[in-house]
Amino acid sequence: MGAGEEGSLLFFVNGKKVEDAKVDPEETLLYYLRNSLNLCGTKLGCGEGGCGACTVMVSHYKDGKVIHRAVNACLAPVMSVHLCAVTTIEGIGSTKTKLHKVQKVLVENHGSQCGFCTPGIVMSMYTLLRNNPVPTEHMIERALQGNLCRCTGYRPILQGFKMFTAEGNVHDEINNDIGSGVCALGDDCCKNKKNEETSTVPDVAQKSAYTPDDASQEPIFPPELKSANFRAPLILSGPRATWFRPNSLIDFLKLRMDHPESKVITGNTECGVETKFGGRFYPKLISPVAVPELNEITINESRIIAGASATLNEIDAELRAFRNENPSAKNQVADAIIEILRWFAGDQIRNVSAIGGNLMTASPISDLTPILMAAGATAKFAKFNNSDVPETNCVPIDASFFTGYRKTVMPETSALLEVSIPHNSENGFFRAYKQSKRKEDDIAIVNAAFLVDFEPESLVIKTFRASYGGVGPTTRLAKSADKFIGAEWNEKLLAEMSEALEKEFDLPANCPGGFVAYRKCLVTSFFFKFFLTVQQELSKKGLCDPNENSDVSDLDREPFESIQCADVQTTDAVGQSKKIISGGKQCTGEAVYLDDMPKLDGELYFGPVLSQRAHAKIKSVDFSAAEAVEGVAGHVWWKDVKGDNRINDEEYFRQEVVTSCGQIVAGILAVDEKIARRAAKLVKIEYEDISPVIVTIEDAIKHESYLPNAPRLRHNRGDPDKAFEEAEHKIESTVRMGGQEHFYFETQASYCIPIDNSDEFHIHSSCQNVAEGQHSAAHALGVPMNHIKFAVKRLGGGFGGKESRFQILSSAVAVAAQKFNRPVRCMLDRDEDMMYSGGRHAFLSNYKVGFDSSGKISSVSIMGYQNAGCSTDLSVGVLSRYIDHSINCYHFPNFRVVGHCMMTNTPSNTAFRGFGGPQGMLVAEDIISKVADYLKMPVEEVRQINFLKPGDRLPFGEDDKQILTDEHIIKDLYEKTDSSWNMAKRRAANDEFNKANKYKKRGVALVPTQFGIAFGLKFLNQGGALVQIYTDGSVLVAHGGVEMGQGLYTKMIQIASKELDIPVEKIHTLETSSTTVPNTSPTAASYSSDINGWAVKKACEELRERLSSIHETDPFITWEEKIKKAYFQRISLSATAFWKAPDVTWDPVARIGKRYNYYCYGACGADVEVDLLTGHHTIRDAEIMMDVGRSLNPAVDIGQVEGAFMQGVGLMTIEEELYSPTGRLLTRGPGAYKIPGFGDIPAKLKVSLYDKFSNRHGLYHSKGVGEPPLFMGAGVFYALRDAIRQVNTDKLLDWHSPATVERIRLSVGDALSTSAKSTTPATDAPWCVRR
Ligand SMILES: Cc1cc2nc3c(=O)[nH]c(=O)nc-3n(C[C@H](O)[C@H](O)[C@H](O)COP(=O)(O)OP(=O)(O)OC[C@H]3O[C@@H](n4cnc5c(N)ncnc54)[C@H](O)[C@@H]3O)c2cc1C
Ligand code: FES
Ligand code: FES
Repeated sequence: MGAGEEGSLLFFVNGKKVEDAKVDPEETLLYYLRNSLNLCGTKLGCGEGGCGACTVMVSHYKDGKVIHRAVNACLAPVMSVHLCAVTTIEGIGSTKTKLHKVQKVLVENHGSQCGFCTPGIVMSMYTLLRNNPVPTEHMIERALQGNLCRCTGYRPILQGFKMFTAEGNVHDEINNDIGSGVCALGDDCCKNKKNEETSTVPDVAQKSAYTPDDASQEPIFPPELKSANFRAPLILSGPRATWFRPNSLIDFLKLRMDHPESKVITGNTECGVETKFGGRFYPKLISPVAVPELNEITINESRIIAGASATLNEIDAELRAFRNENPSAKNQVADAIIEILRWFAGDQIRNVSAIGGNLMTASPISDLTPILMAAGATAKFAKFNNSDVPETNCVPIDASFFTGYRKTVMPETSALLEVSIPHNSENGFFRAYKQSKRKEDDIAIVNAAFLVDFEPESLVIKTFRASYGGVGPTTRLAKSADKFIGAEWNEKLLAEMSEALEKEFDLPANCPGGFVAYRKCLVTSFFFKFFLTVQQELSKKGLCDPNENSDVSDLDREPFESIQCADVQTTDAVGQSKKIISGGKQCTGEAVYLDDMPKLDGELYFGPVLSQRAHAKIKSVDFSAAEAVEGVAGHVWWKDVKGDNRINDEEYFRQEVVTSCGQIVAGILAVDEKIARRAAKLVKIEYEDISPVIVTIEDAIKHESYLPNAPRLRHNRGDPDKAFEEAEHKIESTVRMGGQEHFYFETQASYCIPIDNSDEFHIHSSCQNVAEGQHSAAHALGVPMNHIKFAVKRLGGGFGGKESRFQILSSAVAVAAQKFNRPVRCMLDRDEDMMYSGGRHAFLSNYKVGFDSSGKISSVSIMGYQNAGCSTDLSVGVLSRYIDHSINCYHFPNFRVVGHCMMTNTPSNTAFRGFGGPQGMLVAEDIISKVADYLKMPVEEVRQINFLKPGDRLPFGEDDKQILTDEHIIKDLYEKTDSSWNMAKRRAANDEFNKANKYKKRGVALVPTQFGIAFGLKFLNQGGALVQIYTDGSVLVAHGGVEMGQGLYTKMIQIASKELDIPVEKIHTLETSSTTVPNTSPTAASYSSDINGWAVKKACEELRERLSSIHETDPFITWEEKIKKAYFQRISLSATAFWKAPDVTWDPVARIGKRYNYYCYGACGADVEVDLLTGHHTIRDAEIMMDVGRSLNPAVDIGQVEGAFMQGVGLMTIEEELYSPTGRLLTRGPGAYKIPGFGDIPAKLKVSLYDKFSNRHGLYHSKGVGEPPLFMGAGVFYALRDAIRQVNTDKLLDWHSPATVERIRLSVGDALSTSAKSTTPATDAPWCVRR
């Protein structure tokens, strides 16, 4: 290398200089920001570029321009920001000074709930505004493609950000702040000051050193970097790896020659994932970012030539500019690249990943290689040959380019120099297609590109290429196309080519990747789309007469619109749309989550050692290699548990046998996370497999694997067998609902600080259950509970996943802290969390239903099976709620439901928003749908005929006192929703559309819900509070509920504000702790506002009563004066209170007593469009009406409705956990497990709170809101069924959840799907199974 000296990493963070010669080149930018600079506002959500939580802005100066890019800090090597300016969330605004407009808009629009995703979303939007001060809506949606949020349902974020568009109302102000570069600080703005900072990274960095002097400023691009040579070379060696940044082609190629084992790194989006999750290690890393030839893009009349390191977004921008300046029929290859890049990852990835990286990864599902192959592109390789001119070699990117899985023809010591792509000819057509589980930011299941070139003015084919990804170990060029050269483009060709493709791309039933029939179906369906598109184009030229004019273009979503309606009927704080109290901190990155807590001296990191087998004996565990790593303090395992290693039917550390992958076997303790994780991977566990390994419910039924000691639960009313026998019509059927991963943004995390030589312990945990955390830690440590302070500040989401599954980890961490007598912390990586923590229970329900010709149901009997996973956890409670909700809102006069907990070798399933309710309601809705199918009646009519009405009894046993009264409002709510939704009109409009469209169908549905509120275990229906007033008049409210984004702390403060008659600003909540309120119930069951709110109310009433004597003597006294007086009069200013639900008397096993305190109702209308050829759909419109009683906080409640709705949409359409038949979770991160993204929300969304009814059982007449709206996702699920019903007219249509693209496409029942299914044999050894 020319300048071969070792140097320092130099970059700026938020305007301050960092120079570091000792940096470890293996570190990511995120690790460096969080651990070396203590900038913890940027979050780790996944570590694989799939969630956007880590987004920062990276700016560099090139060709006289400053270029700003949003980047995933979790994948960017810290070395990649050499000579760049990094802006983090801390750099743009602060609650202490001024929020940036983006932050303000989010706060004001309630766009942050748990807040863990928020800094990343802010930074994506901020970067967009730096580049485009007045963006279009489309630009905003594109900029957010790489960000996910699990809480909000996205609506408030998009709605808020729309204000920045030309039509919005804040862009003028924004222009002042951003566009024109004029800062609100005026002369004091940093831009008017010379940047004189020369600080270098201190040993232990103070966060303040890397935040701007005033947070309202826009950090300017540091002048020092403008004058620095961005192309300067660098070599930097760390403990294990060396980073090379050559600045000439020859130096780059010489390095490749000298170090054949080296890895070229461009965006690191592939290599970063390989090193983090694949255990790869590359000792020599070469970054060609400063090599001019590799970064050039040239587009001329005949070709597009992109240097290997040209990023995807740079290519996109150049192609768009070229196309706009040179409109031509020859731009179809360029158009296809632009279109495919729209669906290629998110902006953060496209901003850094390069065309060379994409091609050389040689991934069989690369989105660009099918295009390169079909277009006839070439790759130019270069090699050092001991001279100043490299040896180059051009090779076609064709069938011989990929020599095997992830292998190319490139010689070992060469490098890719450039890719050259010809335009299509004037007489040619080119299209590319991609189908993935989720439309945006997802890798392809199958992708394809097609080129056909015709003889002038004819249908005779001159060139014909079809290439496919996702159907083999490499991208493949279809041989079938060759034989059609010289043939005519007509129906005969369509039939013959389809048949040939089907044969050529026949996949074995156990093909890696799964989805076998679907993938085969996509091969022919894509070609069908292309064939018709070309035929339609040819007909426009008058060359043929297509017998098929129906639209086959891909679906696109209309611009987004939304309405929210709620009545506000209050003048005090309760009932007002108060903003969530830590919204500002969440939007500025100041909100502290567990892993953001400052590190203490001597602290150790717990590197988890998780079981890798689903069912096996542990024969031996060898820690020696791990303990030999420098920085490792030792290990912890079952022998170190001083208390009891067993808790219920689980163990903190697995001792002899593992019963699922992901169980904790041990922990490696080291001085930092990096070392702990690296060392943990070196622990050798010898296993002896135990047979059988049971994964699916069907396996468990076959092996009669019931959870030991779990009761079989049932409801029985009337004589369902007799009624079934006597029924006019009968159906026997099955419905399945798959599991769901919580995907809370903050993974499970715990931190334990031993006090007084391990006599006491302070445990901080990201959990929903303080009392259980305290209890289980005491149990493991062998100390009384009063020696443990267990506290929770806030959670980055929970959704039930942190109600019980946290305690194994938090107690294991505590055992380590006790053993080493040092603070110990652990936050699971996303893949570990998904393996360890379990999710929503999958259910299989077999049922019989009897009914008459009017649709009236007389008999229902259901046999339900739940996949409990490997331990009991909360499975019995979940089963109980499934049973209770399997009627949804319907009256089944003769009814039986029996439920079984099936034990499998998969992670223990647990609470998840809805807690079995949605799984039960799905059975009722399946029954209703199939009765409608059978009778050929509109499903809405069957629903209405069977609705429960006041006077009906619920089937909760003989003793059940719950006769429905006028509080039962489903009929009114349903009708009210319909009067706005107008099902009849929509159905008529859809009928028109469906008549005119053969390959796209629209469907519509209006689905009700009824959800019972109260804990299933009577003793949990209690809450406590401690309210303290200090002498300055400030009030501290403590209660038993945990804040996880649902706005609980805000609601509790509103209650205290109303009861004490003081502004909310005087009231604060610090944390939820075992030392303020003991023996708390978990924050769950949508009941926390009730149980804790009543307690807060009572405590405040008590204080008010005590203060009343002062008020009586001096009614005009201020609050502060009153408190001072009270203090001097020795009136106690601290009150505790306790509340228990008065009427809930339910015994869950005997199943007698009053089950629920009250019910919540709702209805959701949805209107969808389905592409029958791919299975893709869009939600055109959705309307939800939700009964929340008299809302405590309408904005918070609407946020809960929208978030739950989108989680329900995910559950029922996109999210699918896949396991290997040996019990390994295959979907272990956002790359493989898809939750809904911004692009999945309805184009139009209306949410209203039902305002007629006030709940006399509820706190201030309110109702719980967390879980009930989740089932509203079923509106979309059944609208999809309705769309498929337009083409699949089988007597009964099976409709299992989730209705994924695969299920939808294979349900169409056309020739292509039927053939793909019939040629895919059943196998005992599929690649994946659904548990
Ligand atoms: C969240 C996420 C989403 C993704 N979505 C998609 C998607 O939708 N579609 C898709 O196709 N891919 C996707 N990918 C995969 C990946 O991002 C792309 O393949 C990307 O283009 C890789 O480019 P890179 O520059 O980041 O590669 P890197 O990780 O830097 O390198 C990848 C490989 O290319 C080699 N390489 C790079 N340059 C050269 C060169 N000049 N000479 C020789 N070898 C070289 C490297 O040595 C390495 O082996 C996704 C990845 C992530 C993390
Ligand atoms: S943490 Fe980086 S994208 Fe998820
Ligand atoms: S607010 Fe987005 S993940 Fe919680």
